[in-house]
Amino acid sequence: MHSSSNKNRVWSSLEEHCKGISKKSLTELFDENPNRGSDFSTSFEDLWVDISKQLVDSTTIELLSDLAEESKINQFFLDMMAGSPVNSTEKKPALHTALRAPKDSKILVEGTNVIPRITETLEKMEEFSHLIRNGKLLGSTGAPITSVVALGIGGSNLGSSMAHKALSKFSHAEMTIRFCSSIDALDLDQTLDGLNPETTIFIVTSKSFNTRETLLLMENARKWLEDSAVVTELSKHFVGITGSRDKALNSGLKESMIFDLPDWVGGRFSLSSAAGLVLMISIGSDEFSHLLAGMNKIDNKTVSESFESNGTLLLALTDIWNRSFLDYPTMAVIPYSSQMSYFPPYLQQLMMESLGKNNRTSEHEFGNSVGSVIWGSTGTESQHAFFQFLHQGTDVVPCEMLGFSSSYDHSHQELQNSLFANLLAQSEALAFGSGTGEKDLIREKKLDGNRPSTVILAPKLTPFILGQLVSLYEHRTVASGVIWGVNPFDQWGVELGKSIAIDIELEMNDTSSSKDATTRNSSSEKLLERFKIFRNT
Ligand code: F6P
Repeated sequence: MHSSSNKNRVWSSLEEHCKGISKKSLTELFDENPNRGSDFSTSFEDLWVDISKQLVDSTTIELLSDLAEESKINQFFLDMMAGSPVNSTEKKPALHTALRAPKDSKILVEGTNVIPRITETLEKMEEFSHLIRNGKLLGSTGAPITSVVALGIGGSNLGSSMAHKALSKFSHAEMTIRFCSSIDALDLDQTLDGLNPETTIFIVTSKSFNTRETLLLMENARKWLEDSAVVTELSKHFVGITGSRDKALNSGLKESMIFDLPDWVGGRFSLSSAAGLVLMISIGSDEFSHLLAGMNKIDNKTVSESFESNGTLLLALTDIWNRSFLDYPTMAVIPYSSQMSYFPPYLQQLMMESLGKNNRTSEHEFGNSVGSVIWGSTGTESQHAFFQFLHQGTDVVPCEMLGFSSSYDHSHQELQNSLFANLLAQSEALAFGSGTGEKDLIREKKLDGNRPSTVILAPKLTPFILGQLVSLYEHRTVASGVIWGVNPFDQWGVELGKSIAIDIELEMNDTSSSKDATTRNSSSEKLLERFKIFRNT
């Protein structure tokens, strides 16, 4: 076993190395090595990962790879995929990879093979999605269900809504699929606008079946059905996807309409679980199986590929390099695809809920900052919104650009070429700038460049490719968490706010609160007072 001082040595070497390389520019690095474009890119299954425009050289990669090796990341992934309780604070496995493992796999959790349970759920999902897609699922009045409204929040919404939007070209033409996660009343009203209660089903996804927002949405959906006066058997209009079957049953859901969300799947890692049911209904079970196959490909590649060509690890290590050594606090994710517009918010939860942590294992007590602020938006639109800041702002923001070589069909290749031309142009401009050597040019027109970016290029946005991308980001997140020494699978930080909100709500509704109103802090008191004044006007 390597000692912590040994790990610190690698870290110190990286700090030393950083002092030298940060004096260089990307232009110099490209001049020094004419093969940089290929030396710092890797073909990773169907994805091309190019980190050549990051401020790294071969020594950086070697040292970062040493860091990864010291953290025994590969063994961590093998343990994770074998069902070991790698979620250390909650003492349970993180087995999202089992959900897309071949059906003849054997993965034991406390001595029981989890694959039969996964297969059973998947078959139930397939059967249900076939029924609904073929107009054979009937509502309470005997009318076929044609609209699906997915209710859920966080990991119970972000993955499936992102994928549904990304794969909209694969969506069932006659089905209406909508998502609602917000308890802003207008949002639910707009989601339900134009839908017929007789032909609408709600899919309520909540691992805990305890999330206030989701339960409120379900309650309001129920009222909407009741108000129609035609829907009498409400349970025919609700599906539950949960790890808390009892709570779902107590809420009036039918046993046969509940799909299992195992305890060992984290919400933000749950797209390949029953939480993907709404996506399966949208794209069909065949395409859904392609999504799972894509994920499984990257799962296998991540644990089998050597460090220097391992796309997952290169991305994780670049994240650590940019955050902990170059001190860049944020990363912008820019997909050059309107279909991928929900990808940045999806990644916000995946990466920030996993890595936004200050409790590190003692052997990792080196370096200060862990995890980056993830933000971003689609390509050309953001060029006309916030790219000025990226090119000339006083802070450097590493960018990650995602591109696709072809559009959903070949008839629009010209537009696709233009999208990629823009992607490439921006990554070039960020890296190399312009006008720095021109004496007569006014300062305002000069772009210093030296702003790092990564490009991830894929052939086409299909379920198979999206699966690869999702798995790539899942594992990259886990890898950087493990190397940084935080548990990427828990999220204790969000619990406090939830309980305070319940308390305040009780108080606002004039019900008894566990906290005496007068003991709340003066800011909250004043705000509550003002809220009540505004509410009554
Ligand atoms: O508040 C954070 C969180 O616990 C997420 O991790 C999770 O994805 C989300 O809430 C929703 O939780 P649930 O699926 O239990 O409703």
